[in-house]
Amino acid sequence: MKYIIGNWKAYKTEEEVKLWLAGFIEKLNSDTHIQSILQEKVKVVVCPPYPFIPQVTAALSQFTNIFIGSQNISSFDEGSYTGEVNGKMLSQFVKFAIIGHSERRIVLHETEKAVENKFLMCKKYDIQPILCVRDEKDTIPSEAPFVAYEPTDAIGTGKFKSVDEILEVKKTLKLSEGSLFIYGGSVNAHNCKPYLESNEIDGLLPGGGSLDPLEFLQIISQVN
Ligand code: PGA
Repeated sequence: MKYIIGNWKAYKTEEEVKLWLAGFIEKLNSDTHIQSILQEKVKVVVCPPYPFIPQVTAALSQFTNIFIGSQNISSFDEGSYTGEVNGKMLSQFVKFAIIGHSERRIVLHETEKAVENKFLMCKKYDIQPILCVRDEKDTIPSEAPFVAYEPTDAIGTGKFKSVDEILEVKKTLKLSEGSLFIYGGSVNAHNCKPYLESNEIDGLLPGGGSLDPLEFLQIISQVN
């Protein structure tokens, strides 16, 4: 089973989300190859920005093995935390949450402590955390179910890593037994095949490669 996790980041308007969903659903409903892959070989997670989560959840909940994730979760529980979106709210809509993305660690100064609290919030509200790490220096809590290796020089640059490079780094990460290992960094429909063929890589986390529904489906269609 592979995981394909689409991270839309801070892109799309409501109108663009409607178009993405229409294109995705139309292609999915007409492509029996992708339908059979979805039945048996892949779990797909779509991670839209917060305002679009209910809309995307409503549109995609009809499909087997397609789940919705958030791109973040508050490190605080319910309370007086203006602007925060917490696990209790998210758990009504999502099964997964990306935490510790390098864009949040670097640009938004998210600390290891905050990431750890986010991990605990996911646990509390039964949301599967997809923990992003840049290298072996980022802490991986024990029993992290999904660890996404996302080297910063590969994110959004087109400089994707080779399978060998990725597996070298995998050896240095303190993964728990049972942790699934995901790669993200300039993954697209043209370079995804070798990753999907590796037994050592359990899934992919495309950002730019998930913004177009047909490209995202092209990645999914190459799971074998
Ligand atoms: P990218 O982003 O595929 O656009 O490089 C991946 C990510 O940052 O999750």
